[in-house]
Amino acid sequence: MSKLLINIKELLQIRKSTEQKVSGAAMKELPTIKNAFLRIEDDLIVSFGHMDELLNNQADQIIDCSGQIVLPSWCDSHTHIVYAGNREQEFVDRINGLSYEEIANRGGGILNSAKRLQETDEDTLFNESKTRLEEVIQQGTGAVEIKSGYGLTTEAELKMLRVIKRLKETYSLPIKATFLGAHAVPKEFKNNKQGYLDLIIHEMLPKVAEHKLADFIDIFCETGYFSVEDTEALLEKAATYGFIPKIHVNQFTAIGGVQAGVNQQALSVDHLEIVTDKDIEVLKDTITMPVALPSCSFFISIPYTPARKIIDAGLPLALATDFNPGTTPSGNMNFVVATACIKMKMTPEEAINAATLNGAYAMNLSNDYGSITEGKKANLIITKPIPSYHYLPYAFGSNCIDKVMIHGEFIS
Ligand code: NIG
Ligand code: FE
Repeated sequence: MSKLLINIKELLQIRKSTEQKVSGAAMKELPTIKNAFLRIEDDLIVSFGHMDELLNNQADQIIDCSGQIVLPSWCDSHTHIVYAGNREQEFVDRINGLSYEEIANRGGGILNSAKRLQETDEDTLFNESKTRLEEVIQQGTGAVEIKSGYGLTTEAELKMLRVIKRLKETYSLPIKATFLGAHAVPKEFKNNKQGYLDLIIHEMLPKVAEHKLADFIDIFCETGYFSVEDTEALLEKAATYGFIPKIHVNQFTAIGGVQAGVNQQALSVDHLEIVTDKDIEVLKDTITMPVALPSCSFFISIPYTPARKIIDAGLPLALATDFNPGTTPSGNMNFVVATACIKMKMTPEEAINAATLNGAYAMNLSNDYGSITEGKKANLIITKPIPSYHYLPYAFGSNCIDKVMIHGEFIS
């Protein structure tokens, strides 16, 4: 089945297949073709160029994109889409003056979501999660990572991961699964964190590996949650099962999680609201992608990741949503891109690079996703008629998307 998109006002993010991520000053460049065509065969991009170069206009379906911009789908490399129920009461508690930490200390926060998830059956969990996934696909997300971490018992963690597996089997977009058993210390282990880590290492990890339920390993390396030593111990053990780390670091405090991640060859270190000069130095010339989650900063009123400091030091940066019931009840990548521009002073070019190719890199997907490249999957956003791509983050409250395509098929 072939499709030919013609008269595209501007085709964004044209890359060679060798370009796996974009770093530093190069993030200011977003290669584009104005007045372009794009040819798709089955699920693949097979060619593209300026309309003047279009010699053969035969195709099963021809789509006129006059006035419309086409770009690769958003690649959301950090979400917790599988969860049970919401936490709007904590939202109101925060408005009334309680901090995220105070709410967590009262048994709210991650433990609140864990309790609800443990009480929710697998089909209900699947159905709640699928509604959220379908929403973000409509919002232009064409590749997504989903974490466990609201189970906190072996049974409930496996339940979450099985739901992620079922989502993978049900939807055509690529989904990567991350095992985040070390998200918080459950109350049964309140004074025995080591006991819980032992359970993760000796019981959960082997089962997750045996049933091939995860691609990545994650841990919340943070004051009051898991230490750098805990992180090192878990990641070392997880490496023996082949799990690649993508870890939560520096959300509230900088305790050395970035260094630990880099030491363990983490694919990404995520959050980074608090970043030291040493963290920046440690990330230079590594394979580790820093990932910022501006919707989280927006929602719980914490600092934004210092994107300028990171990019101006020559590092790459990816943007993701962190979609979860506590700190970010939104999986809207359009809002993430806009917030990165408005609050983190990223240029639209930097933000689009961060939300496409660099996001794909942070999921080990940049061979097939994240840019307009011959041979990559045809996962696309087709905008409504808009004046320029700068309009996407500028019109932050508008839905600028006309159609989305996953693997060569329009999603209705
Ligand atoms: O990425 N920081 C840790 N985990 C989630 C939030 C967890 C929650 O409050 O439910 C995050 O922000
Ligand atoms: Fe998160």
